[in-house]
Amino acid sequence: MTHPPSGTVICSWADLQATGTVLYRADGFEGFVILDDYLPRGYVDACPHNGMPLGGDQEEVDYQTREQDVIICRWHGASFLKDTGECIGGPCAGDRLEPWPVERRGDEVVAL
Ligand code: FES
Repeated sequence: MTHPPSGTVICSWADLQATGTVLYRADGFEGFVILDDYLPRGYVDACPHNGMPLGGDQEEVDYQTREQDVIICRWHGASFLKDTGECIGGPCAGDRLEPWPVERRGDEVVAL
């Protein structure tokens, strides 16, 4: 899976602030960006447990717990630290999400 080219606009900063999670799908790449306090964090959208996108079969896209303290996989409940992607609970504990480097540039979130 090839990451989008550096400089690709993923979403607006306002959208990420409003939703907390933004999915990005293009050219076979599946990723997501979450808001970690005031930083965007990007990861490839594939759970280390079985490679599925973390959203499960839910229509509503929310990749964080209600407290917004960790990322959660909707399939079997694996939980991941937002800043490192390390799995801290569930069937793939000790494994980690693949990082997808992103940053905020003004009013946008872009791929690095
Ligand atoms: S697919 Fe994520 S916990 Fe099983």
